[in-house]
Amino acid sequence: MYILKAMELSLKGRTAVVTGGTHGIGRAMSRRLAACGANVYIFDIDSDDEIDFPSHQVRCDVTSRASIQAAFDRSGVPDALFINAGTGIVKPLDETTREVWDKTISLNLTAAFETLQEGAARMKGSGKGGAIVLTASTNSYDGEESLIAYNATKAGVLGILHTAANELGPYGIRVNSVNPGLIRTRLTQAAFDTPAVIKDYFRAIPMGRGGEPDEVAKAAIFLASDWASYITGASLLVDGGQMCCKFGPWKDSEAEFNNGHWRLKK
Ligand SMILES: NC(=O)c1ccc[n+]([C@@H]2O[C@H](COP(=O)([O-])OP(=O)(O)OC[C@H]3O[C@@H](n4cnc5c(N)ncnc54)[C@H](O)[C@@H]3O)[C@@H](O)[C@H]2O)c1
Repeated sequence: MYILKAMELSLKGRTAVVTGGTHGIGRAMSRRLAACGANVYIFDIDSDDEIDFPSHQVRCDVTSRASIQAAFDRSGVPDALFINAGTGIVKPLDETTREVWDKTISLNLTAAFETLQEGAARMKGSGKGGAIVLTASTNSYDGEESLIAYNATKAGVLGILHTAANELGPYGIRVNSVNPGLIRTRLTQAAFDTPAVIKDYFRAIPMGRGGEPDEVAKAAIFLASDWASYITGASLLVDGGQMCCKFGPWKDSEAEFNNGHWRLKK
């Protein structure tokens, strides 16, 4: 009889690089990676003395190619690369200046491309294969208002994802993305702190709430792990079901909104 043993999701002995790993989703990824036994390198423009899990903080501005190269010189060849640094500037169409556009494209799209190009070259050279996970968004697919530059970059990240998965497959390098919905980080804390905003927003989410950074981290680490050995070119929504429905399930007649969470009335 064939017995399948329970397998631990372990990244022992692997080198993991996380861009934008000091705060928010990237920090949660870094913490989980450390817990899975990886040797974690955080490439970030900012550092934090309060990071309390084993990791190497490497000061890096991913909008500078030289800075990315210098950071990879410190980390060595990654087995798993998480391209996560990004920002969102909220501006209506009329107020989206060329400066806002360029800043968003530079960090969310050009830096993602250059980080991937530099990381992939090293991974190909090592001959060991590996995994790359991009942080895209539900906004890769929808047109949420006042985020035209952001939405364009996150749609563009899928173009990077598909092409890189195609070209890197022969080298044993898998490329996937996580596509978070609204996740509680400093980027979104103001929305989370405004019940009137989140009550309506979360009405459209089957899980009835926003997400936490660690919920994205777990999905990203699955994609980078051997558990996802036949998955490449895929986008994994981590959005509480937001993208699967048009209007959402929560009705005032049947449900109530308390502490940031829609629940059915008892
Ligand atoms: N929070 C959400 O709701 C949400 C939803 C979907 C996608 N995302 C995406 O998740 C990613 C992380 O966002 P977050 O919400 O954790 O934001 P965050 O602001 O908490 O974290 C972003 C990190 O990127 C770093 N960073 C910024 N500019 C950098 C640069 N030039 N070089 C290196 N590092 C830089 C910051 O210092 C920070 O550590 C982004 O790509 C964002 O678009 C976030």
